[in-house]
Amino acid sequence: MISIKSKREIEIMKQSCQLAARTLNFIEDKLEIGMSTEDINVLCHNFITENGAYPSPLNYNGFPKSVCTSLNEVICHGIPSEKDKLKDGDILNIDVTTYLNNFHGDTNRTYFIGNVKPEVKKLVQVTYECMMEGIKVAVPGGRLGDIGHVIEEMAQDNGYSVVREYCGHGIGREFHEEPQVLHYGKKGTGVELKPGMTFTIEPMINLGKRHCKLLADDWTVITKDKKVSAQFEHTILITETGNEILTLDPEKPYRPTFE
Ligand code: MF3
Ligand code: CO
Ligand code: CO
Repeated sequence: MISIKSKREIEIMKQSCQLAARTLNFIEDKLEIGMSTEDINVLCHNFITENGAYPSPLNYNGFPKSVCTSLNEVICHGIPSEKDKLKDGDILNIDVTTYLNNFHGDTNRTYFIGNVKPEVKKLVQVTYECMMEGIKVAVPGGRLGDIGHVIEEMAQDNGYSVVREYCGHGIGREFHEEPQVLHYGKKGTGVELKPGMTFTIEPMINLGKRHCKLLADDWTVITKDKKVSAQFEHTILITETGNEILTLDPEKPYRPTFE
């Protein structure tokens, strides 16, 4: 069952989504070469709890930390660790989900650490554009397959591949609700989008082949060919006329330039 949120529910959920976005704005300024992904975890954990929320990943199906930190060839669900220190040329995805007033808000971004190779920068930029193109076609009367279609097309046009094993999801009172939002697919297929639906779009795009591998920690997902992977995520609301990105901080809306 896909839940349709009421106006009142949306207003409450938006607070959670905006806090998730504010957490990424907060951590962005603190990233520096030499810090560990566990340092990032602690900073985000404290920011989220000081703002009256709970970090949804913590203990979710046994996940041991408060955010996911995915470096370079890690596709998603990287576990923060004292051992993983940021180095010049890395790309790092930080995925923040907050639980505030009984609603979840879920967003992630991929950051450049120091000087990143042009080839990798381009992957990150195209991944952001994939997400934004997906958001553009998420309108009432459209279908889920339209979203997957434009994302896959844009990735493939650039010679990249789309991860198929992990997808976007409905979100609200539960972290992961129906429907599954695939990042590949066929135009005009799948569930019809209706006002009041809230879900994430979070494409994972690989520089090399799409195949992935789960590490022995049972969480960390890496590319099989060890080439880099990028991801961006927003939580959006389908409105009467189009959609609204909920995971934007109105004080400082995220508009990356990839310089
Ligand atoms: N935030 C991730 C998503 O976008 C899910 C992380 S689950 C965790 O759906 F347990 F790894 F935190
Ligand atoms: Co998500
Ligand atoms: Co997420």
